[in-house]
Amino acid sequence: MQRPLSFYALWGSQRQASTSRRLLEALRLISPDGVSIEICDLIGNLPIFNPDHEGDRTPSVVDAFAAKIRNADGLIVSCPEYAHGIPGGFKNALDWLVSRDEVPFRPLMFAHASHRGDLVLEQLTEVLQTMSLRIVPEAFLRVPLAGKSDEAQAALLAEMQENGALRASLNRFAQAIRGSI
Ligand SMILES: Cc1cc2nc3c(=O)[nH]c(=O)nc-3n(C[C@H](O)[C@H](O)[C@H](O)COP(=O)(O)O)c2cc1C
Repeated sequence: MQRPLSFYALWGSQRQASTSRRLLEALRLISPDGVSIEICDLIGNLPIFNPDHEGDRTPSVVDAFAAKIRNADGLIVSCPEYAHGIPGGFKNALDWLVSRDEVPFRPLMFAHASHRGDLVLEQLTEVLQTMSLRIVPEAFLRVPLAGKSDEAQAALLAEMQENGALRASLNRFAQAIRGSI
């Protein structure tokens, strides 16, 4: 039997009706056997990063966030583009992780919820590779939910679920991780 894998899913928006969050929830609901997904709800509670508050002075919410990452076999990132870049809150969360040992070599897949936003993908790739995360390109998933009505989003997600595209990405991610353990 294959070892169960747990993924921690980070989203880069704080919006209640976030399409990034919705895509992660759809992935969580269709996770293949042996794969579980927890969606992060801590990013909005992180204080603004300050290197003076690392080490012994690290805020407890940052430690809790880092512990979730340490315990995950892989990360899923769903992040919108804001003004051709990374939303500030999400970059802040990444900044807290830069000098810590949880992220290097941790596998990561993108689940992108927009037909646009290629600049944020480029910038995230640069930042995450600088932090030594291992991006798994074959698991990349794009589901263009942004700008669609609630009903149209639901219909597209149902279609992607039925044609197996959502699960296929997760399976490719899981295979890449299991192949390297
Ligand atoms: C402040 C702001 C700036 C944005 N800038 C861009 C942009 O530069 N490029 C783009 O493709 N979309 C841009 N958008 C659109 C968002 O990427 C889009 O609304 C996306 O659905 C937001 O993600 P969410 O649904 O997870 O909140 C912007 C939205 C906001 C609120």
